[in-house]
Amino acid sequence: MTGDQSQFAPKPATLVEHITALSVGDLNDLCDAAEAAIIDGGGFGWLTPPPRETLEAYWRGTLLIPDRDLFVGRLDGVIAGSSQLHRPPRNNEAQSFACNFTTSFVAPWARGHGLARDLTQIAENHARKLGFEVMNLDVRETQRAAIRLYEALGFQKFGEHPYYARTRDGYVRGLYYFKNLSVTGPTGTTEGGTS
Ligand SMILES: CC(C)(COP(=O)(O)OP(=O)(O)OC[C@H]1O[C@@H](n2cnc3c(N)ncnc32)[C@H](O)[C@@H]1OP(=O)(O)O)[C@@H](O)C(=O)NCCC(=O)NCCS
Repeated sequence: MTGDQSQFAPKPATLVEHITALSVGDLNDLCDAAEAAIIDGGGFGWLTPPPRETLEAYWRGTLLIPDRDLFVGRLDGVIAGSSQLHRPPRNNEAQSFACNFTTSFVAPWARGHGLARDLTQIAENHARKLGFEVMNLDVRETQRAAIRLYEALGFQKFGEHPYYARTRDGYVRGLYYFKNLSVTGPTGTTEGGTS
């Protein structure tokens, strides 16, 4: 066979959804995706994959915490990434308008299909629906792909932390961003959307 066959391959279907429960299969896929991201060096805090039961307990626990919203990204139906929206605790009346976008990752095998963009925008739309006016996030300065994505989506850098994280290579600087959600961007997506 000659020629580039890839141009005839069907585009994988992407879907990002806000979830409140995980089936055994989905939990397994989410743990696989997280492990792959951790090994690749973008594991929302973990430098090496924890034992499987720790990872499972982490995701189950996330669903139980009332102030957290969990989003998963699927590629052809298989969970390949995730993100979270953390709402401020009830006592924090002074910052009740602001939420935090965090723990976003896509497994290396599923990158480049727009899942991270959808995981961010759908969380952003969800935050708007909940009435939040500001979305904050922070990222290691070494996560170039994520920084490019967030800046393209209109997040504005407001600070840097020289001792934000410590990896095997030493301290890594952290970058802090915010987005004013009352300013509508050019690219809106709807929750539970597909592409
Ligand atoms: C950052 C990450 C989530 C991107 O996932 P993805 O699904 O491949 O990203 P998308 O396909 O949605 O790409 C969206 C945008 O991200 C940026 N991007 C993605 N991959 C990139 C790369 N390799 N280099 C530079 N920019 C990149 C681009 O701006 C891209 O838009 P474009 O395609 O119009 O150029 C993924 O690389 C990852 O999990 N990295 C490790 C963990 C991490 O950094 N998490 C964020 C911490 S808050």
